[in-house]
Amino acid sequence: MPASESKDRALVFGGSGFLGTRLLAALDSPVCEALSVSRNPGARPRTPNETIRDVAGDLSQAGVAETLIGLLQPRTVFLVAALARVGDCERDPGLARRLNTELPAEVARACKAFDLRLVFTSTDLVFSGEPPRESGYIESDPADSSQVYGRTKAEGESAVLEEYSSALVVRLPLLFGESVGRGLGASDSLLAALDRGDSPKLFTDEFRTPLDVDNAARALIELARKRESGRLHVAGPDRLSRHQFGERVVRARARPADLESLQAVTRADLGLADRPRDVSLDNSKAREILTTPLLSVSEALEKPRQT
Ligand SMILES: NC(=O)c1ccc[n+]([C@@H]2O[C@H](COP(=O)([O-])OP(=O)(O)OC[C@H]3O[C@@H](n4cnc5c(N)ncnc54)[C@H](OP(=O)(O)O)[C@@H]3O)[C@@H](O)[C@H]2O)c1
Repeated sequence: MPASESKDRALVFGGSGFLGTRLLAALDSPVCEALSVSRNPGARPRTPNETIRDVAGDLSQAGVAETLIGLLQPRTVFLVAALARVGDCERDPGLARRLNTELPAEVARACKAFDLRLVFTSTDLVFSGEPPRESGYIESDPADSSQVYGRTKAEGESAVLEEYSSALVVRLPLLFGESVGRGLGASDSLLAALDRGDSPKLFTDEFRTPLDVDNAARALIELARKRESGRLHVAGPDRLSRHQFGERVVRARARPADLESLQAVTRADLGLADRPRDVSLDNSKAREILTTPLLSVSEALEKPRQT
């Protein structure tokens, strides 16, 4: 049997990023050939014995994603490439539109044409967080962010599902966990700041439902294999303020002295009262579908890291 028939082939657009790196690590196996596309493949941290194939491509150029899908012939496409930082999107709304809205539409068209499985990652920040909802947003709640990041991602979601109704859009929460020494994500960036001697300011009045990045990667792979479609909230079970989250991260590192370095602030203290107050996601639907458990922050931090 030719290799292409016996082995799954998964293409990760954005494989060098925080989530993409961990998704590739979880995909790479005797039963799956994992391919990564990013502008600078050299920036992707390697693990010993991995068999991941890297391809350089600038996805801001129209047609590049479609051409690569045609050439590489994956069975499954994970689109995690994005302009994923709120500040970058506000500074360059044109690039945000291109990467977060137009690129997803283009990838969805190509996946439909080749009959491929598509998983597109979106964000809790498609919601404004007002008025706050302690039970968390559900999938059918209307996206209402006024920020460029949330708006362009919400438009990307709609474009994907309009182009290809079999696609799956997974809204993710604040991600934390293994960033392979790069200080990326909510926990490693906090620990890196503490190691530099900083005293991070953490909001007591901004709430999320954080999820470990390796947990998110495993859930995305399970969902791709299950052929789910539509929108799904894959989030952790804890609704935590950024300050509560920071305390858990520091406690898990067993350096209690660092707790005193965390500064508890409100959004108003920093003149940032317009930041989304509570974009917690209700993960009930995902829990019904997944066998992969969605771990609490403490459960995830207690697990040995899997580099
Ligand atoms: N991190 C979080 O807490 C979080 C929370 C909710 C949702 N999400 C979603 O999860 C996904 C991944 O986020 P992330 O945090 O992993 O983002 P990230 O670390 O910023 O990674 C973005 C990826 O996109 C690639 N990329 C950006 N511009 C590109 C271009 N022009 N051409 C080719 N590749 C390009 C980057 O590679 P190069 O720069 O090397 O090209 C990188 O691999 C996004 O959909 C994001 O909206 C993330």
